[in-house]
Amino acid sequence: MSTPSAGKFGSRIGFILAAAGSAIGLGNIWRFPYTAGESGGGAFVLAYLLFVVLIGVPVLMAELSLGRKSGSNAVGAFRAIVPDSAWRYVGGLGVLTGFGILAFYSVVAGWTLSYAWDAAMGTFADGMSVEASGKHFGEVTSGTTGPVVFAGAFLVLTALVVRGGVSGGIERASKILMPVFFVVLIILVGRSLTLDGAGKGLEFLFSPDFSKLTPLVLMNALGQALFSLSLGMGAMITYGGYLKKDENLPIAGISVAIFDTLIAILAGLIIFPALFTVGAEPKGGPGLVFVVLPTIFDKLPAGQFFSVAFYSLLGIAALTSTISLLEVVVAYFVGERKWPRERAVWVVTAGIFLLAIPSALSMGAVEALSENAETGAKSFLDWQSIIWGNIALSVGAAGIAIFVGYKWGAKAALEEMRTMPLAGAWENLIKYVCPLAIVAVLVYLVATGNWL
Ligand code: PHE
Repeated sequence: MSTPSAGKFGSRIGFILAAAGSAIGLGNIWRFPYTAGESGGGAFVLAYLLFVVLIGVPVLMAELSLGRKSGSNAVGAFRAIVPDSAWRYVGGLGVLTGFGILAFYSVVAGWTLSYAWDAAMGTFADGMSVEASGKHFGEVTSGTTGPVVFAGAFLVLTALVVRGGVSGGIERASKILMPVFFVVLIILVGRSLTLDGAGKGLEFLFSPDFSKLTPLVLMNALGQALFSLSLGMGAMITYGGYLKKDENLPIAGISVAIFDTLIAILAGLIIFPALFTVGAEPKGGPGLVFVVLPTIFDKLPAGQFFSVAFYSLLGIAALTSTISLLEVVVAYFVGERKWPRERAVWVVTAGIFLLAIPSALSMGAVEALSENAETGAKSFLDWQSIIWGNIALSVGAAGIAIFVGYKWGAKAALEEMRTMPLAGAWENLIKYVCPLAIVAVLVYLVATGNWL
């Protein structure tokens, strides 16, 4: 126990909770609702669900089996199967993507820290009008120091856990806190579904208007399915490598996908009824969840308690995701570049912090980095989310699907999974549907020039 190392997971439930911990995070609670809101609701949600089943689950199984087979990091996994080939650049892109995602993710995670603090101070206990809540969000996110400092603090927290190695830090934290978060969410759903706007909220989320399925909405749905399941950049390859050989991969993978998707839908069930009740706009952008939620805490008994519980648990859910993002990059430097773990953790964290600064300053602090309603320019943070969260993950997932389907071979992957139900369907999905659908969405988007 002297040098911290990335050991094996102690138990199946430990692994499922840690992988679910990676998957469940701001992607479900923050990114899913605001992307759904911007993408017109029902049709996006349907496309997202289809992508989870047809692309997410197959790629998840591919990543977990590749990871366990090779027992290696995102790049080493490709090298373990075909040494000295260009395939390792798929893993390399993943490492870069992990770096890029963590740099904007930590900024939003920093907001949750601010909100948890405000909640503890009683800021949301008496409820807030949407206007007051919007103003509060602006104050929290548009400062020049607060957002930078909170993002930095979140990165340091992440680094401290990753420094301790996998089974100590990650497993122990996830085991206790994820189930608690689930209970809090269910209570909030119960409250939201009895608000006046519940009917409108449900209609927005679940009645698809197919005329809204533009190339951009498809890209958002694909990106969100991958982002939410932590796919396309090697997190699940790296975690698969920490999984014991006798573990049942399909059960682990499918449970993670079900939990993750369920939590995103629960988040939608909390936000949209509340949003229509207070008359906010679905197209509220990255501030959506932060602005809408404070309007309902006073409608719960023990509202202050719930506001504190919600933001601190959201922070912890974000932490179990940032851990997996940092772990991908650190595992690469430790495994491929032979850096000591300690050095890898701090050097990488410092680099990520530098890239986080422009995102932290892009919510109004620095005009050139911020959104501009007149020109339609997006914020730096939005661009980071699109570039890394949608495009890079999609390219990475297509690369992984092609690699596992053809180079390593679907049969070899199935052998590693051992008891995969619907093995024939999985093989068709990973070889044909995943690469073709992803390439089709990317080409469609580029060809139509429909970026904004
Ligand atoms: N899946 C995480 C979330 O939804 C984010 C993430 C993306 C984590 C990619 C790891 C890799 O919050």
